[in-house]
Order: sequence, then C-alpha cells, then structure tokens
Amino acid sequence: HTPWPGLIDAYRDRLAIPADWKAVTLFEGGTPLVPAHHLSELTGCEVYLKVEGANPTGSFKDRGMTMAMTDAKYTGKKAVLCASTGNTSASAAAYATRAGLHCAVLIPSGKIAMGKLAQAVMLGAKIIQVDGNFDDCLELARKVTSDFPEVGLVNSVNPARIEGQKTAAFEIADALGKAPDVHVLPVGNAGNITAYWKGYSEYFADGVTASRPRMLGVQAAGAAPLVYGAPVANPETIATAIRIGAPASWNQAVAAKEESGGAFRAATDDEILAAYRLVAAKEGVFVEPASAASVAGLLAARAEGWLDSGLTVVCTVTGNGLKDPDNALKGMPEVKPIAVDPVAVAHELELA
Ligand code: F0G
Repeated sequence: HTPWPGLIDAYRDRLAIPADWKAVTLFEGGTPLVPAHHLSELTGCEVYLKVEGANPTGSFKDRGMTMAMTDAKYTGKKAVLCASTGNTSASAAAYATRAGLHCAVLIPSGKIAMGKLAQAVMLGAKIIQVDGNFDDCLELARKVTSDFPEVGLVNSVNPARIEGQKTAAFEIADALGKAPDVHVLPVGNAGNITAYWKGYSEYFADGVTASRPRMLGVQAAGAAPLVYGAPVANPETIATAIRIGAPASWNQAVAAKEESGGAFRAATDDEILAAYRLVAAKEGVFVEPASAASVAGLLAARAEGWLDSGLTVVCTVTGNGLKDPDNALKGMPEVKPIAVDPVAVAHELELA
C-alpha cells in the first residue's frame, strides 16, 4: 500500500497544473468520509460527514492552499497575502513556509478564534489586524495585490484555490462509488461551494458519476446574504469563520444552487450551537461552530420536508473543533477538583 501523496499528486490528471511543477504540500486531502449513524437515524437518510478538520492545518483550506502556493512559487511571487476569518490565514501561513515565501494575513480585529490566531503566529505569518470585518479585509487584500503584483493573493478568488478544493468532491464520489443525492456545506465567501460544484460537474461530464448532487448551502442567519439575496453590511454570528456579508463567489454559488436544483438556507446561532454539540456528543466528531452550520441546515431541511428519507447525503464539516476552544467551553459549569480517591471517581461516574 502506497502512502497518500497529497491531493495534487493524487489527482494531478484532473488539475490545471503544469506537469513539471513539484507540489508544495503537507500531504493534505484524503480525509475521512465518516458514516454518521445518529444523523442517519434522525433523518432516515444515509448521512456521511466529510471530515475536513483532519487536514494538516485543521481545515479544508489546505486543499486550495497546496495549489495556490505551488502556483505562487512557480510564477515567481515574492510574498503572499490573504484576508481571513482565521482558517485561510492558518493554512496560508503553513504553506507559505513550505514554499519559502513571506506571508501576511489581514484579519478582522478581535473576531477570529483563538486556535487559528495561535496557528498563524506559530507558523510565522505577519499578522495584520484590521479595524473592519472580513469583507473590508478582502477589499484591502485585492487592492494591495493589484498595486503590488509581486504579492500573490491566496484567497478563493484565486482560481488555483478552487482547483485544489474541487478534489473533495472527487474523494467523496470515489469513496461512495457514486455522487451523493444531496451535498450540504456551510457557505461564507462561497469559494468552497463553487469548488465542490466544479468537482462534481467534472466527474459527471466525464462519465465517472451518473449524476450530481443537489447543493444545500447553509449560512449563519446573521450573515446570510445569499439567502436574503443582498449583501449584509454588518454580518454577525458566533460562527466567526462564516461572518461574511458580501461573498466574493456570489455568482458561482448561485449557479451551483440553480444548476443543481439546490437551495440556500440560514441557521440561527442557537441552531448552530445545538448542531455543534450534537455532532460532537453523538458522532464523536468535534468540529468548529461554522462547520456545524451544515448539520444544522441538514436537520432543518429534513424537518421541513426539503429532502426525502432514503437519500445519500454528505455534509462537509469544514474545520476542526480545536480551533475554537472558547466556544466549546462557554457555558460549562465550573469543574471542582476531587479527592485522590477511587470512591470519589466512582461517584463522578455515577457508579456509587
Ligand atoms: N467553514 C469554515 C470552517 C471556514 O473557515 C470557512 C471560510 C467556511 C466554512 C466557508 O467557506 O468561504 O469557501 O464559503 N473561511 C474563510 C477564512 C473565509 O478566511 O478562513 P467559503
């Protein structure tokens, strides 16, 4: 058995990349597709979780970053820049280090999860806090990289990012032996839904699969421009990863929804938190709040009859729960230490 080569070499024949470019890689991709027994029971569907938190920096961004950073290296960029709600910055920092490029990240001041900030710091990125939200950061990043072409923009507006991220759809179809009936994922800047739809569409066009899934894109209710049909000026949600009011890939997301017969929906912060706890406690998969939006959307869509029982459904859980320990521990009762005594432990376990 050969070890996983990273997604560029696993799918090189399906990626827009010159044959002589050596991948800048941390051996991302090849993530688990985990049968979700409890969610399957709740919905009457066959539900799987595509666990993207298992990527090297703990999110799906690594799929896009291996491609974007390989491109930046071979096209002679001197540095890379991104706007980020946290995961993109962690991933960019790691892959820039591998590529030997300087990396700076523009983040909305005070609005990124602790684990993500820690990653960007440890991985050596120049962290620039911006007095604004993600949308402001992205606008700024676009201006800088347009004025200084030697700096590569590694947000998902970079086509190389979408190329890399489409491989998640290939992996799912390869694992299932078919495309799922429905694919659910959280939507922020809308790069990932664009990428999945591209991947599914390419497999379908080449006859690898006989169908494509309906795409269900889930946004946080306080940051749901695609659901409302207009940008949101001051997006707010506990799911800071998707706290975005003006998705860059708006048109592509709408195309994915329309062409697939899919839908956008909003999940409230309460629904997101309930799904966040459920997927950890009942499936054994600890994801970050934004990732749980997909699960919240799935449950609400099923309850409303948007999807029938018996379907094969894949839910992408986009980021690792360890990224956001604050939200995990919020509202937990204070834990007092116990005596060094077996009886005390048995008491805690409700055995005595
Ligand atoms: N889930 C997580 C955990 C994310 O970090 C993001 C985006 C999304 C979902 C939404 O994906 O933007 O392609 O629609 N995070 C970006 C970042 C914005 O900066 O890390 P999308």
